[in-house]
Amino acid sequence: MCGIVAYLGNQPAQPILIEGLKRLEYRGYDSAGVGLINDHTLNITKSSGRISVLESMLAKPNPVEILGIGHTRWATHGEPNTINAHPHLDYTGKIALAHNGIIENYTALKTFLIGKGCTFQSQTDTEVIANLIGYLYSNPDGKDCPHENLNRFEWAVQHALNELVGTYGLALVCTDFPDMLIGAKKGSPLILGLGKNEYIIASDAAAIVQHTTQVIYLSDNEMVTITPKGFSTKTIDNIEIHKEMKQLEFSLDAIELDGFGHFMLKEICEQPKALTTCLGGRLDMRDNRIILGGISNYWREITRAKRIIINACGTAWHAGLIGEFLIEQLARINTETQYASEFRYRNPIIEDNTIIIAISQSGETADTLAAVEQAKERGALTLGIVNVVGSTIARTTDTGVYLRVGPEIGVASTKAFTAQVAVLAMLAIELGRRRHLGSEQAKFYIDELSKIPSKIEQVLALSEDIKKIAEATCERENWLFLGRGFNYPVALEGALKLKEISYIHAEGLPAAEMKHGPIALINNGMPAVFIATRCSQYEKIIGNIEEVRARGGRTIVVANQGDENIKQYADFLIPVPEVPEELQPMVTVVPLQILAYHAAVLRGHDVDKPRNLAKSVTVE
Ligand code: AGP
Ligand code: GLU
Repeated sequence: MCGIVAYLGNQPAQPILIEGLKRLEYRGYDSAGVGLINDHTLNITKSSGRISVLESMLAKPNPVEILGIGHTRWATHGEPNTINAHPHLDYTGKIALAHNGIIENYTALKTFLIGKGCTFQSQTDTEVIANLIGYLYSNPDGKDCPHENLNRFEWAVQHALNELVGTYGLALVCTDFPDMLIGAKKGSPLILGLGKNEYIIASDAAAIVQHTTQVIYLSDNEMVTITPKGFSTKTIDNIEIHKEMKQLEFSLDAIELDGFGHFMLKEICEQPKALTTCLGGRLDMRDNRIILGGISNYWREITRAKRIIINACGTAWHAGLIGEFLIEQLARINTETQYASEFRYRNPIIEDNTIIIAISQSGETADTLAAVEQAKERGALTLGIVNVVGSTIARTTDTGVYLRVGPEIGVASTKAFTAQVAVLAMLAIELGRRRHLGSEQAKFYIDELSKIPSKIEQVLALSEDIKKIAEATCERENWLFLGRGFNYPVALEGALKLKEISYIHAEGLPAAEMKHGPIALINNGMPAVFIATRCSQYEKIIGNIEEVRARGGRTIVVANQGDENIKQYADFLIPVPEVPEELQPMVTVVPLQILAYHAAVLRGHDVDKPRNLAKSVTVE
């Protein structure tokens, strides 16, 4: 959560910081600020609200201000007002920093620092870092400072970071070192972009790619010191380290709106193309097998697995649930899907031959990462299904498969979900093929998988019809989403999409569970979305639709094209192409994404920046 961007180069920093913050705004957007170094002074401007508000407060860029730090916040400690916005200054006014993460021992540190006479202005945990560095900087207490490869600023940063419990991505400046920028990381992402005589530190590549595609990914407990002469990387224990330079693999176009009103709509519409890229080169139609280069050396171990545990959060968890059904059905391996936030604190039993799969679009979700670390400590092989190349989960897992769908900017995940399901389907088919699935069956699923992009294309063409359904229903504050079998996780995902962007209360359920309680919610005209495509439980779900209608509910039914029978049960019908049951979620979820999108727009909400949410949840 939150976006950090910092610049040191040969151009005025202010416009570069603002541009970078706009690119990172999807990460958090409740307040923002920039701090610019001008000789030995610091000019800080902050405001609550969006980057545009901050921008309107700024004076013309000053050409001598070529070093600065910026932040767009997702508040964890303290309300999203101007005082709590970053950058935060230390009590001496010399040190400023932008922080992503949570400092867990901030209360103890704050008490200590107040005892030493430090003053605090904000309610944030972050200000403790600034004051601790400021305190150590001003009172080195005769400790080994400065060290031979370290100036006093770096020394104070290192010593302070060693006292912190929690997570941080940090960009720091000090007025006594007006041409020095420091970055540090533990548990929150931080990337260093290496341009021509310029450097950018950012929480993600979106703020860097316009300037350079050469980057260095900092690892936990590492820091970088940048001056106009170059940069050096060390651990926070002052051990110098060499970091390998990597190439960013996406272009600026991938993060532009490209004529769409919202990133979410762009990403929904991109799904046929995104899935084609995701599947590209991976479906071997000649030998009827799946090729997943990233895990090719691990097939033996994965095929022998006795148990697979999938860890993920939110939408990725819904994809995981579909993965569980797919792997059990096609590969007959005992699989379970866990909320990463629960798994990490559960003292889980991980026996030999257990594989952990972590699913994450961003590759930075703190809970999913912690689950991976816990599984690794217990000796399990970890496999990441991740979109963002080079992200922390991608680097931490033993092996993995990238989604290859390009950057997903809309806070509500869409194309990443369908690609996560596609990767899980590929994994399940290949695992099945290597275990017991006949070649003909493997061929059938591979063929059907290759047709999914064109089937999604057909659903996209229904957007205007779905908009009419949204117009007729979106004033209702309570909805149900119901599905069975492979479409049950789709119901969960449909409800989540509607909740997060339109703020309508929606419950997703396995359709048969409704009668065990939630049926009490149904009143006259309550929208109930059913995913009732032809599948093994088709007749059963018709029964569930009847139950809702009998109680006055209004049914929106996703069914197969040409299903005449279902018409009598649907107040609104959304016909989608036929797909084998196991692969249906990639198609049946699309109308629900479109429905949520239109409902949110009609209700006047900012679809790409829903309230209280942030794209990448890098705090617990
Ligand atoms: C989905 O629309 C979300 N906003 C959210 O549930 C998301 O899927 C979740 O936070 C996991 O993110 P990740 O895939 O980046 O790990
Ligand atoms: N914990 C800090 C705060 O509340 C940083 C939050 C963030 O990552 O945006 O200000």
